[in-house]
Amino acid sequence: EKGNYRHYMQKEIFEQPTVVAQTLSSYVHQANETVALPQVDFDLSAIKRVTIVACGTSYYAGMVAKYWFEQFARVPVDIDVASEFRYRDPVLEPGGLALFISQSGETADTLAALRHCKANGQTIGVVVNVPTSSMAREADLLLPTHAGPEIGVASTKAFTCQLAVLAALAAHMAVKKGYMSRDEEREVVKHLLEAPAALNAALDHDDDIAGMAHLIAPARDVLYLGRGPDYPLAMEGALKLKEISYIHAEGYASGEMKHGPIALIDEAVPVIVLAPSGPLFEKTVSNMQEVRARGGKVVLISDEEGLAEAGEDCLATIQMPKVHPLIAPLVYAVPVQLLAYHVACVKGTDVDQPRNLAKSVTVE
Ligand code: M6R
Repeated sequence: EKGNYRHYMQKEIFEQPTVVAQTLSSYVHQANETVALPQVDFDLSAIKRVTIVACGTSYYAGMVAKYWFEQFARVPVDIDVASEFRYRDPVLEPGGLALFISQSGETADTLAALRHCKANGQTIGVVVNVPTSSMAREADLLLPTHAGPEIGVASTKAFTCQLAVLAALAAHMAVKKGYMSRDEEREVVKHLLEAPAALNAALDHDDDIAGMAHLIAPARDVLYLGRGPDYPLAMEGALKLKEISYIHAEGYASGEMKHGPIALIDEAVPVIVLAPSGPLFEKTVSNMQEVRARGGKVVLISDEEGLAEAGEDCLATIQMPKVHPLIAPLVYAVPVQLLAYHVACVKGTDVDQPRNLAKSVTVE
């Protein structure tokens, strides 16, 4: 059932506009322009703290969500990878929402963390793609993603659907807590509903990305840089590349590069920069200059405005549509997924079944 696609991963990348729209349709009321959760009988205004726990790509979705919960709902967020969480004896006070994000709903570390939080009196929220999974069954607040079955070991469409749900949840909590006005809620709804078309516009650059994959394929190491909500995206890009092309890659906050990783920069280390135009853009441009001054080769992923300003002297550029910052993390997921995909194709690795990896990690 790969249809015209070579790999499941490729098919799943291209399904994103459809499945994100599908997911949003259960969290956004188009007619009355409100965000709404499927399980409406839940009082989100009383939540004092959010603890997010997940692994891998789902963890990076949680990192993006931390920005949204804090910015919109002014609620403090603690986030950790599931394999570390329990062992540090986290402080779990009454009135806390513990939020677990998982495609499979079966990841052993995440499930163990969920049970730990349940035993410690937290309300259990679960963002999960498999509605019959163990995590779904143990949730107080079940927030399904409607990505459909994800077969490729590298998670793609589940990630963007998780982001859609988390953005709606953060906005809904903000409304309930009185931090988001009716007008602001309308704006959020409008921008969320722009996501499917923006994902399509991002996918239109598939050929450009395929055409530049040979520039990255010979690298031994690749760095990804991003700021704000694009910082987790940089880590997600690095994870995708590692998983399926076996190239060593690291994601860093752009401003952190000068604190160490810059020592790695030379002409053999491509640096992929995720930087939509906006208030943080100038800062990222100076980070790019630091890279170039050391002979580093930059691949800039930005919109028309950003590329016009800083696209010169890059090894390559990838143009994204100009989108509202809220949906930028969904849109910028596409080029990093496609880049990893095409680099793996150039290298001839097994895209859907990378070595040493399982789709669902059910051992701790
Ligand atoms: O099913 P889950 O979302 O709980 O899985 C978590 C990770 O194992 C998963 O995201 C993994 O990192 C992927 N292979 C990433 O592409």
